[in-house]
Amino acid sequence: MGSREGTADIGLIGLAVMGENLVLNMESKGFVVAVYNRTVSKVDDFIQGRGAGKRIIGVKSLDALAAALKRPRKVMLMVKAGQAVDETIEQLLPVLEPGDIIIDGGNSNYQDTMRRTSYVESKGLLYIGSGVSGGEEGALNGPSLMPGGSPAAWPLIKPIFQAIAAKVEGGIPCCDWVGENGAGHFVKMVHNGIEYGDMQLISETYWLMKHYVGMSHEEMADVFDEWNRTELDSYLIEITRDILRYKDSDGSPLVEKILDAAGQKGTGKWTGMTALDFGVPLTLIVEAVFARSLSSQKEERSRAAALFTKPSLPREPLTGDAGKSFIQDLKQALYASKIVSYAQGYLLMREAAKAYGWKLNYGGIALMWRGGCIIRSAFLGKIKEAFDRNPELENLLQDPFFSSVVDKAQASWRRVAMTALQYGLPVPALTSALTYFDGYRSETLPANLLQAQRDYFGAHTYERTDRPRGEFFHTNWTGRGGSTSASTYTV
Ligand code: 2AM
Repeated sequence: MGSREGTADIGLIGLAVMGENLVLNMESKGFVVAVYNRTVSKVDDFIQGRGAGKRIIGVKSLDALAAALKRPRKVMLMVKAGQAVDETIEQLLPVLEPGDIIIDGGNSNYQDTMRRTSYVESKGLLYIGSGVSGGEEGALNGPSLMPGGSPAAWPLIKPIFQAIAAKVEGGIPCCDWVGENGAGHFVKMVHNGIEYGDMQLISETYWLMKHYVGMSHEEMADVFDEWNRTELDSYLIEITRDILRYKDSDGSPLVEKILDAAGQKGTGKWTGMTALDFGVPLTLIVEAVFARSLSSQKEERSRAAALFTKPSLPREPLTGDAGKSFIQDLKQALYASKIVSYAQGYLLMREAAKAYGWKLNYGGIALMWRGGCIIRSAFLGKIKEAFDRNPELENLLQDPFFSSVVDKAQASWRRVAMTALQYGLPVPALTSALTYFDGYRSETLPANLLQAQRDYFGAHTYERTDRPRGEFFHTNWTGRGGSTSASTYTV
């Protein structure tokens, strides 16, 4: 560690596709980037290949990386999530100095990022864990970036991060400070969960168009194309349109030849597990995760299909006004369900913020997702406006804009759900959203009976409607158990 200062604005470790594309993005915005990779031959490959003739400095050791950087040094890791991040941090600490910044741009678990932030800070350095979304193309041309970690690091990395991020109307970058320690990776995790929900909802809509309305692929593509010009304007609707139009070499729609067994890499599951931990009803996203699980049991579903009578579908396609009106209903159902999904995702972020002491900027998060990432949509602009109107908004469903949209959609949403149930077409995300909505807007629920059951068998006590909250009662339901109540009452 000499006193000589390098010329590079930032260093990047991990030259897989995401790492390379981020380097090229940074360089194209005028930054000098030093690059290193564990398998050092990849450094030469990159410098002589895609990185040729650019302001990119290839280095073969972490010492050389440290020497190449301006102070305070900024080193971004794009290595495999998990142990590789811990190992790389361990190797970096001896070559860096207090005040330098380590940035993890991988798909790390937010709890790992919380641990790493305090560890790196304990060594006098600063740490950033940033969500990076938008895939390979986003990394190259403008990703959505969700940085969290040591607040003191943000002003130092902000010029680079906001320069390389996607931009929306008015040149606003899809990148802002999320919050302390694991907040950035937490928000990225929720983003991925919401992505599961959006994809499942669109797939259910396609299923009803195909099997109930009896539409051709061109007709379905036309409807998604039309929806993409409305409040449903989004990347996922757009690619759905293109997928439905795509023909295999024999001229038939390729989508119908794709095996209906969905994969998953685990971020939806993390979101669901976190929701269970926090007691937040994230019903739609969890249904979307389980829908993938059920789909992946393809062979077992084939055996089960032979056991049961299939409800018969309408024999003729639903044409004319009946068809048009059902498609209108579908659009309303999709929109309302999507609002529920985002409302639930935001509730999860709010609970986590409370638990971890993060001051999350909810409108800013909507803006970070507005462009660059997979869930980018016009709709996120409306969410930003809702939090601008009321930064303390309790639930998106209470915002005047969203509550009026959902209220108007109710009748359509119910018709779609009833149709799907009647014809045995599984639409778990659409129906769980509606069921959540019905629970949310119900002043009373059957939990009075549930509390009675808990008190009956476990003396768990209950509160009464005719007494103030916080007073707990126990009834000796059978006359046998005595009047001793259980000491713990967890709502
Ligand atoms: P490699 O080329 O040497 O395998 C994606 O896998 C990126 O993470 C690659 O650049 C890979 O480097 C890097 N990577 C994976 N495990 C690593 C580790 N334990 N230490 C450093 N880099 C690692």
